Amino acid sequence: GTPAVRALRGEIVHFLADPADCGAAALAHFADGLLIIRDGRVADCGPAEQLLGQLPADCTVDDQRGHLIMPGFVDTHVHYAQTDIIASDGEQLLAWLEKYTFPAERRFADPAHAAEVAAFFCDQLLRNGTTTAMSFATVHAQSVDALFAAAQARRMRMIAGKVLMDRNCPDFLRDDAHSAETDSRALIARWHGRDRLAYAVTPRFAPTSSSAQMALAGRLYAEHPGVYLQSHVAENRAEVAWVAELYPQARSYLDVYDHYGQLGPRSIYAHCIWLDDSDRARMAATGAAMSFCPTSNLFLGSGLFDLERAHALGVRVGLGTDVGAGTSFSMLTTLNEAYKVLQLQGQKLSAARAFYLATLGGARSLYLDEHIGSFAPGREADLIIIDPAATALLARRSAAAQTLAERLFALMMLGDERCIAETRILGETAFRRPVERGA
Ligand code: GUN
Ligand code: ZN
Repeated sequence: GTPAVRALRGEIVHFLADPADCGAAALAHFADGLLIIRDGRVADCGPAEQLLGQLPADCTVDDQRGHLIMPGFVDTHVHYAQTDIIASDGEQLLAWLEKYTFPAERRFADPAHAAEVAAFFCDQLLRNGTTTAMSFATVHAQSVDALFAAAQARRMRMIAGKVLMDRNCPDFLRDDAHSAETDSRALIARWHGRDRLAYAVTPRFAPTSSSAQMALAGRLYAEHPGVYLQSHVAENRAEVAWVAELYPQARSYLDVYDHYGQLGPRSIYAHCIWLDDSDRARMAATGAAMSFCPTSNLFLGSGLFDLERAHALGVRVGLGTDVGAGTSFSMLTTLNEAYKVLQLQGQKLSAARAFYLATLGGARSLYLDEHIGSFAPGREADLIIIDPAATALLARRSAAAQTLAERLFALMMLGDERCIAETRILGETAFRRPVERGA
């Protein structure tokens, strides 16, 4: 049988706090480290020379020296049903939705299509080292079943929900007062809290829900303890102007969600670009989180996320790929673009802060940091084994680096899915990259 205790030896990096608050003390680094896993959870993590002597006699050590071991990545905003429209050219948000997104989402009325895409999507997450994701499905209840079933089969943590949209969208993607409520309640009953799955009430964005449906979303979120809420806010300037027309009484776009009771712990808003400081303060006060989606924001020409203001006002922030407006499933590529978004505003993103955001920061934004995001004792052992020599260029740049910070920075700027040698879920291999020759 499988031994209950396993040990993994390699260079270990994880976070105990936000480097923006605590500096170097936020990062735990063991150049020759040992991660001890018991029944799929972290039992201990520290220097190999201290911990090797404490292992049970029958415990073999999986020697990954030369590799970097980190907690699995957390993608706080993605659309599984947009996998097939990634890299669709030429439009900004509103035209992009009409031209590419809505026709693609229509196909999820077919459960066989939904199941096929869900399987591909979950496999993409794993090959990119992402072990937890918060994803939109489509308006179709069966699209949620397909995603949860695929995630459950892989033992991944997944937060997802049926999209609510009952106006300003094509007839073929519209729900109504009755189906929106009965479908959402049935899905919560069927999936929320099962294994590692959680439900998210999912109003697409304020323009595509009637005020009755916005009120329903707030009620569903309030009535079900532990249920999440996900939406989009202040992504694109034309969208912001449209919301001002649709909701003339609101102080701001964010205020629309506030009015309908949609801000609070476990509510996650993608983009958050065109906000002011009263919006940010309101998000902080309510416990709502922002998902920073740099590849999407640059691809759609939406704008630049202001991490400095979000942090100054104490808002929880995670990172999202936002595929299919986002252009990569890789959190490494996402960090690369996050760095550049901040550069354009004169802000700095250190490698430590970046990897914090991709792991513990994301977990905190989803209120999951007691379960995932670090190697603190008791955490679920979702982890990645990174090959810092996966490409010739990265190997060369890393060899010239003097410090861990420099090596992590090279990894985030030059790395991609090729660097993810292995992804483990609850301590078990879920993806292993075939060894390439002469890469
Ligand atoms: N706003 C409303 N729907 C969407 C979507 O599917 N993608 C993005 N990026 N923004 C949205
Ligand atoms: Zn999105």
